[in-house]
Amino acid sequence: MKLADRLNRLGTETAFAVAATAADWVSKGNEVFPFHLGDLNLATPENISNAMQQAVAQGKTGYCPNAGIAPLRMALAQSLGQQRNVIFAPENIAVQPGGKPVIGKFLRSVMNPGDEVLYPNPGFPIYESQIEFNDGVAVPYRYLDTENGFQIDLDYLTSKINTNTRALILNDQQNPLAAEMTDDERQALADLAIKHNLWVLSDEAYFDIRYAGESKSIVSLPGMLERTVILYTFSKKFAMTGWRLGAAIGPVELVDRISKLNTNEESCTAQFVQWAGVEAITGDQSGANELVRVLKTRRDATIAGINNVPGMRVHTPNSAFYVFPEVSQTMARTGHDDVAKFASDALHNSGMSFCTRNHFGRPLSDERGNYIRLAYSGINNPQIEKGLSRLADWVNSK
Ligand SMILES: Cc1ncc(COP(=O)(O)O)c(C=O)c1O
Repeated sequence: MKLADRLNRLGTETAFAVAATAADWVSKGNEVFPFHLGDLNLATPENISNAMQQAVAQGKTGYCPNAGIAPLRMALAQSLGQQRNVIFAPENIAVQPGGKPVIGKFLRSVMNPGDEVLYPNPGFPIYESQIEFNDGVAVPYRYLDTENGFQIDLDYLTSKINTNTRALILNDQQNPLAAEMTDDERQALADLAIKHNLWVLSDEAYFDIRYAGESKSIVSLPGMLERTVILYTFSKKFAMTGWRLGAAIGPVELVDRISKLNTNEESCTAQFVQWAGVEAITGDQSGANELVRVLKTRRDATIAGINNVPGMRVHTPNSAFYVFPEVSQTMARTGHDDVAKFASDALHNSGMSFCTRNHFGRPLSDERGNYIRLAYSGINNPQIEKGLSRLADWVNSK
């Protein structure tokens, strides 16, 4: 039987495959230290769960408006507008079942077949997958590993813009690098978007996971409000990954198109989940604040543990919940020249389970260095310390 060709262009999120390998190793009786998936092992704050239960009890279980219930659109407009110093109206919000759906819906709303879209690489793998699936041309831009952390290679990015370039995907508080833009970088990117008349998808999934400093959005810069769609999600900030609640926030002409896609694809996001979202945004924030406090202790434990592994070099990020160490010297010591084999041997010799650079978009041909990503969102401090000390023992034994 013949199958559709278009699915051959669809990528996937291979971090889930690492989770399956780790689960297999556990099932054989081994201890595994799960640093692979950007999920949280922390509970959704109780006030949010209670709001959902109350909504169900009140019968808020039917269809609702395609773009979201009015109170949630209003709450998001006010809260995000205030944080970013811009004015959003409810009409600028299209509620989604998670942050991820915003990527494909944004692309289908702005991109014609053959249009080029710039995206971060290494980056969240769904950008590349969705650009290609929707008949666009995926054009990666890269990061430089500098003394001040990872920074977008602006010259490289600029050199990739041409008359076919339609959109630019940005992810500040980046996954997997936890890279953050400086004010100058953000302004330079805004200037490029305006000069070349590009749409911008600003993926702000980790905007509120912050340990020091302040998150800023490109939408706050002059000339950006009318060309930017924000990807917002409740997943990380409120430990709600499995609830599937997020939003696209942008110009009305685009949000209307995205809402039309909602109508065609899921009709609406579960109504009682949206009511929980209203409580998350407008209710008591102590649960969300506590979450960030816990994550900060995990970041510190992860950095301390990595610094005890011979040959690893790592930046200390102030946001998101990932670190992205360079491991070439460690690999030389353990006799590896392939980072995937290094990760597999690390699992079988120390129980450490993590992703590598290869899980975050197709590597560029001239890339240097070997990198792994540790997510510390789903693992407690004692396990962080034990896992990294086992990894150090294995490397030291070589
Ligand atoms: C950069 C980035 N964007 C978007 C998402 C999607 O989040 P959600 O779970 O809300 O779909 C993730 C999830 O890991 C992410 O890392």
